[in-house]
Amino acid sequence: MGEPHPKLQATDLSRTFGRGPGAVDALGPLDLTVTPGEFVCIVGPSGCGKSTLLRIASGLLRPSTGELAIRTTSPRPAAMIFQDYGIYDWKTVLANVRFGLDIQRLPRREANARARDWLARLGLADFASAYPATLSGGMRQRVAIARALAVEPEILLMDEPFAALDAQLRMILQDELLELTQTTRTTTLFITHSLEEAIVLGDRVLVMSARPGRFIAERRPPFPRPRSGEVRSAPEFTALKSELWQLLRPEAVPA
Ligand SMILES: Nc1ncnc2c1ncn2[C@@H]1O[C@H](COP(=O)(O)OP(=O)(O)O)[C@@H](O)[C@H]1O
Ligand SMILES: [Mg+2]
Repeated sequence: MGEPHPKLQATDLSRTFGRGPGAVDALGPLDLTVTPGEFVCIVGPSGCGKSTLLRIASGLLRPSTGELAIRTTSPRPAAMIFQDYGIYDWKTVLANVRFGLDIQRLPRREANARARDWLARLGLADFASAYPATLSGGMRQRVAIARALAVEPEILLMDEPFAALDAQLRMILQDELLELTQTTRTTTLFITHSLEEAIVLGDRVLVMSARPGRFIAERRPPFPRPRSGEVRSAPEFTALKSELWQLLRPEAVPA
């Protein structure tokens, strides 16, 4: 019995911005393998190259060396959720959620139905015709999540999606995301600077070094699936958090 084919595989991946004396080595070289259905969290100090990695994974940026392959088994795309939501203020909530489906040229009736279904799952059923500017930060972020999930992506790429939210809302959305991804078994690469968030959500937590970011440690939170936000109060949770902090702290200290 072999390993399942990885969903995402980075090999000798690196990225440098600019050239000559002013060049910035932002990332790697690093290797990364994410298996189907896995939820991988990446933590690392500010500026270590986390967003660079996710932008490469989403096809927005080319690597300088190596490659990152995403193996999908259908034409469904990877979906990316940015820290700043990336939703369109001039489109209604429904049109935002339908956006990826319109690109896939799904018939309008079907696209509307699927978009409304995801809005309902994220508690936004009554806001389909609202404009994002009238919504709270948490609701806007839910719109972004609904939009990404509506395309039923094979891989979900999330770059600090909850960073701008207050602590309570953040926990609520973490719990929702847990439930959603455990139901859909969507392969997810999730970047955060919150150790708690990484431990609650991840099958694996990867710790990155200071720039140029490489993986310096890996831990598996010892909580079986399906899990809920209740793991936050487990003694193992606190122990793992301080262990991860010991690993991260030397990287996070300003040089
Ligand atoms: N387009 C760019 N041009 C030049 N430097 C960049 C660019 N994007 C990112 N960087 C630099 O690369 C490093 C890593 O950035 P980033 O991936 O955004 O880090 P993180 O998301 O971990 O905070 C930083 O030093 C940043 O200033
Ligand atoms: Mg970033």
